[in-house]
Amino acid sequence: MNKKTQEAMFSSKSSEWETPQKLYNMLNSMFNFTLDPCASPENSKCRKYFTKEEDGLNNTWKGHTVFMNPPYGRDIKKWIKKAYEESRAYDTTVVCLIPARTDTKYWHEYCMKAEKIYFVKGRLKFGDSANSAPFPSAVVVFRRDRWFKIYNPKALTLCQN
Ligand SMILES: C[S@@+](CC[C@H](N)C(=O)[O-])C[C@H]1O[C@@H](n2cnc3c(N)ncnc32)[C@H](O)[C@@H]1O
Repeated sequence: MNKKTQEAMFSSKSSEWETPQKLYNMLNSMFNFTLDPCASPENSKCRKYFTKEEDGLNNTWKGHTVFMNPPYGRDIKKWIKKAYEESRAYDTTVVCLIPARTDTKYWHEYCMKAEKIYFVKGRLKFGDSANSAPFPSAVVVFRRDRWFKIYNPKALTLCQN
């Protein structure tokens, strides 16, 4: 990884990189999100959100359809682990917008178990930046098998909000 990419990935500024609204709107029309667990009051994407002070990592996401664009610092692996683990509940879906770092340990451990991965063509422009990100992005969907959800009556009850 070159110096520019490293700075972009791990600087505190990069952790505020806001999802492009057009991309969020497109995903929201597919999923209808109810929780943004990595947010500030200024950049939250859902009515329900957790800030750094509230700590989205240490709150439950259960029962939500979650949109997660995590801080892109070194803790990103904790967010991806959390996304995967929360999505093991039948009533919880987690959609992650993350750098497409397919060579990382966490990618192999968690992202490869995703229901779907969309690779973004080209580079995203986060927030109001005039420049494209120095890394590729992917949208990773963590959700349990839907067929089981539908045919397991106990799970079906759990799914009713
Ligand atoms: C990449 S930005 C995403 C912002 C916004 N949710 C979006 O999608 O545009 C990540 C956000 O997570 C916040 N954050 C950092 N640590 C957090 C934590 N432990 N719990 C919740 N939010 C956190 C940062 O302040 C930042 O606003």
